[in-house]
Amino acid sequence: MDRDTMRLAPSILSADFARLGEEVAALEAAGADWIHVDVMDGRFVPNLTFGPPVVKALRKVTKLPLDVHLMIVEPDRWIDAYADAGADIITVHAEACTHLSRVLQAIRARGKRAGVSLNPHTPEHVLEYVMQDLDLVLVMSVNPGFGGQSFLGSVLPKVRKIREMAAAHGVQIDLEIDGGIAPETIGAAAEAGARVFVAGNAVFSGAPPSGQADHYRSRIEQLRGLAEAKR
Ligand code: DX5
Ligand code: ZN
Repeated sequence: MDRDTMRLAPSILSADFARLGEEVAALEAAGADWIHVDVMDGRFVPNLTFGPPVVKALRKVTKLPLDVHLMIVEPDRWIDAYADAGADIITVHAEACTHLSRVLQAIRARGKRAGVSLNPHTPEHVLEYVMQDLDLVLVMSVNPGFGGQSFLGSVLPKVRKIREMAAAHGVQIDLEIDGGIAPETIGAAAEAGARVFVAGNAVFSGAPPSGQADHYRSRIEQLRGLAEAKR
């Protein structure tokens, strides 16, 4: 897979949970690349969403990669459950893992792509000794827990440094950014080196009750175009 392609990963955190299957089908029809699934446990972050049964249900309604972002404590206890549910990418927070290398190995042992997410204050150097063990780095550009927050531009130097680290280690990674991605911010994120863009509010807000797939398509295409322009 080409890691330099610009990919849009809409976050279903902003979807209508009462119609989740239809929402995911609409995103697929609208040209989304991945479906970003925000799992929150009310402990690692001050919000609660859903767990493996919902991922399992989503697996039945889309062929797109399910990009599962675990904002949970002790993620090592849950790797098998999310792998069994049909996740393609399992991303854990560095701040939640005492044994990060072991968790990444467990994800890969299940044949899944292993991701590490960093909160805004977490420096890139925590990745230094696991660069060979990961497939994806997810840089948080908001403090995780809620959709619709403002983009923190202070993380952009970190995106650049992670891109340099991957090159220095000779590894291919997906470099993903999450939080506050919008037409006003995606260009700077692309310029810094991000290639996968999570977007919740920017894709879902303002959708008319009918014609949602058209609305999602126009938002996704707009964001993709703005990212491409800053490659
Ligand atoms: C935040 C989540 C994000 C969030 C993005 O805790 O990880 O994926 O839903 O939403 P927007 O794009 O609205 O900032
Ligand atoms: Zn997320």
